[in-house]
Amino acid sequence: MTNYKQIAGEKAAEFCRDGMVLGLGSGSTAAYAVIRIGQLLREGKLKDIVGIPTSSQTAKLAREWNIPLTNLQDRPCIDLTIDGADEVDPQRNLIKGGGGCLLREKIVARASRREIIVVDPAKLVGYLGHHFLLPVEVIPFGWNLCQSDLIALGLEPQLRLAAGQPYVTDEGNYILDCRMPPADDLAGLEKAINNIPGVVENGLFLGYADLVIVSGPEGIKSIGSLAGPGRCASPARGVS
Ligand code: A5P
Repeated sequence: MTNYKQIAGEKAAEFCRDGMVLGLGSGSTAAYAVIRIGQLLREGKLKDIVGIPTSSQTAKLAREWNIPLTNLQDRPCIDLTIDGADEVDPQRNLIKGGGGCLLREKIVARASRREIIVVDPAKLVGYLGHHFLLPVEVIPFGWNLCQSDLIALGLEPQLRLAAGQPYVTDEGNYILDCRMPPADDLAGLEKAINNIPGVVENGLFLGYADLVIVSGPEGIKSIGSLAGPGRCASPARGVS
């Protein structure tokens, strides 16, 4: 059976260049990009790159493939990040965090000059919240008060569980997965959620996805582009 996630992840790896600082995304689709980067390094087709992983599981995978890793203290500006998403709307806004890694993923996206999102066609939606819940990361202390505040914003939050216990993120936090109605003002919603005391971050990624690579039965489709100066003010390196 054709593995569309693998095709999308491997396609995105073609945009990596020698010398780049790479943001390494999380989830099953981004993992194929990480593996391909490891293969390119092993084959000598990619040199002098360093990776910044967005989760402990991606860090583990990268180490297995001997991808040199660094951190945002040493390399605060990332040339290119490849990550997955749970939903992509027509403006390339995203819901992320199904794997629980939204906090590091958003910090890495914010630090990236360019971001490629790799998905299969099922992730493309008319509006965010169409079928996926919006994850909101909260500190454990008083998490139930965050839940009440999210309800007051019109969301329907549920505490994420793992084996009957609260799911705990890499940063030691909980996740409230929220059903959300179609929102006219996503930026306003993002701000309102993050303004709740105890909320660390939410899974709305607005304006970060420069290029979305969609792999499905009809082939590979690219939405957006990597052209332009990018967001982060590091020395220019070509991405074409
Ligand atoms: C991880 O927290 C997520 O943001 C993933 O990028 C997202 O859930 C997509 O994962 P898959 O590629 O496994 O569908």
